[in-house]
Amino acid sequence: MTIVSSPSRVPSFLGGTITPPVNACAHGKPRSASPWMGEPGTVGRAVVVGAGKMGLPLAVQFARHGWDVTAVDVNPDVVAAVNAGHSHVTEEPGLAEGVAEVHAAGRLRATTDAAAAARAADVAVLIVPVMLDDAHQPDYRYMDSAVESISGGVHAGLTVIFETTLPVGDTRGRFLPRLEAAAGLHGDEDLFVAFSPERLYSGAVFANLATYPKLVGGIGPESTRRAAVFYDSVLDAEIVAMSCAEAAEFSKLADTTYRDVNIALANEFARVADRVGVDVQEVIAAANSQPYSHIHQPGIGVGGHCIPVYPHLLLSRAPDLEVVATARRTNDAQVGNAIKSLETQLGGLDDAPILVLGLTYRENVKELAYSRALPLIDRLGFHGAEVWAYDPLLSDEEVERNCARPYRWGDPGPFRAIVTQTGDKLWRAMDFSLFPQLEVLYDGRNSLREVELPAAVRYVGIGVQAATRRRAAAPR
Ligand SMILES: NC(=O)c1ccc[n+]([C@@H]2O[C@H](COP(=O)([O-])OP(=O)(O)OC[C@H]3O[C@@H](n4cnc5c(N)ncnc54)[C@H](O)[C@@H]3O)[C@@H](O)[C@H]2O)c1
Repeated sequence: MTIVSSPSRVPSFLGGTITPPVNACAHGKPRSASPWMGEPGTVGRAVVVGAGKMGLPLAVQFARHGWDVTAVDVNPDVVAAVNAGHSHVTEEPGLAEGVAEVHAAGRLRATTDAAAAARAADVAVLIVPVMLDDAHQPDYRYMDSAVESISGGVHAGLTVIFETTLPVGDTRGRFLPRLEAAAGLHGDEDLFVAFSPERLYSGAVFANLATYPKLVGGIGPESTRRAAVFYDSVLDAEIVAMSCAEAAEFSKLADTTYRDVNIALANEFARVADRVGVDVQEVIAAANSQPYSHIHQPGIGVGGHCIPVYPHLLLSRAPDLEVVATARRTNDAQVGNAIKSLETQLGGLDDAPILVLGLTYRENVKELAYSRALPLIDRLGFHGAEVWAYDPLLSDEEVERNCARPYRWGDPGPFRAIVTQTGDKLWRAMDFSLFPQLEVLYDGRNSLREVELPAAVRYVGIGVQAATRRRAAAPR
């Protein structure tokens, strides 16, 4: 447990290829303090507003470290599940056990009454989504209503921490005045407000909490201090107390925008690889053997409510950022490129039965927000294709709701093309004899490069073609 002013040397994660070390927990038994004033070694009462895929694990993490936690959610089913000791998020490893454990210990409960929960709390963490509207501007409806909902419980001594990714300046410019006005308080004097970005990866949340440096920036020194001490009491990772809320807000946008731009570059490299007849995966792996090269993976698109959203949050305040805007367009164009390729391979899409594998934005995470499968299905349908889809995390009704015919894994099918939109390992077990009419496998995540295909099926990857794929798969 350390609070530092800048991160100590951390290994470059080389686009996710290095597994960073997980810090062991070194927390002693905490002392309860009421009210909690940010004294190291003490714990108090915390409220987490938004008990979703990120908020619920945070609530568990805080409660495991001795905090008395109330999770607030507008969804009564979420509240009921938590109060029964169950996690409504089923895919996060360790979460179901964590909720059961801290609920049984009496340190986690849930409510829809945000004001009452905030009134009783020392620390309020807000983690509800900020999305985009149709003009790619921030859509604050959930966060505005979350802030409004706690305002009746704002009181002297409360520390409010925003973990949701925000445009630079929002903690101080948009939300601080509302919180101050709610109870006639003054920021950094009797009300403490900070931004601390959620940097976790669904599916590895608890490991990430013990690993990734936690960035914290307040609207003043006491806000930064209290927020940093709070995280130091619950996390095993290094806590980085930054100079201000804006620096912390910007860090999150810089990290995620970098990834979007990096993926766009990989997608451009994939086009070059196709033109010159080499396998882009081979090129990237070789380039990344130089420690300064961290090229990410090309693919059919970037989905989820993080990476495709945050560059727009940055652009909303800095519309002159040309590289960022171009990268966004490049990544979004990947679906159109896939459709053009399928059209060419099949000689048109009219009435062509096509199976899309993977509807969630990535494998093993039940999240459809900004999934590239949705425009893919929509546009294939627009071009006349008969679109079928399968996702191990979705029911037939959920598939139908997304405008595709449900395919049952293991059934035969009349498909002329299969498009993988996620890199689910399950696809590798596909039995191609079930699809006698299959002409094209469009490998949207380059995850099936090594799979044996019937002679009549053409492989098309992103920067990996039938000919280059064979070369890459050949023994060395
Ligand atoms: N999911 C990720 O992989 C990820 C990764 C890093 C950061 N984040 C950040 O976390 C934020 C939340 O993501 P998530 O995946 O947990 O979202 P989620 O959709 O899984 O959960 C959001 C929860 O907030 C609740 N909610 C909405 N409005 C509310 C309100 N006014 N008051 C109380 N509850 C409300 C919803 O009912 C839902 O349970 C994102 O916007 C992003 O900034 C997410």
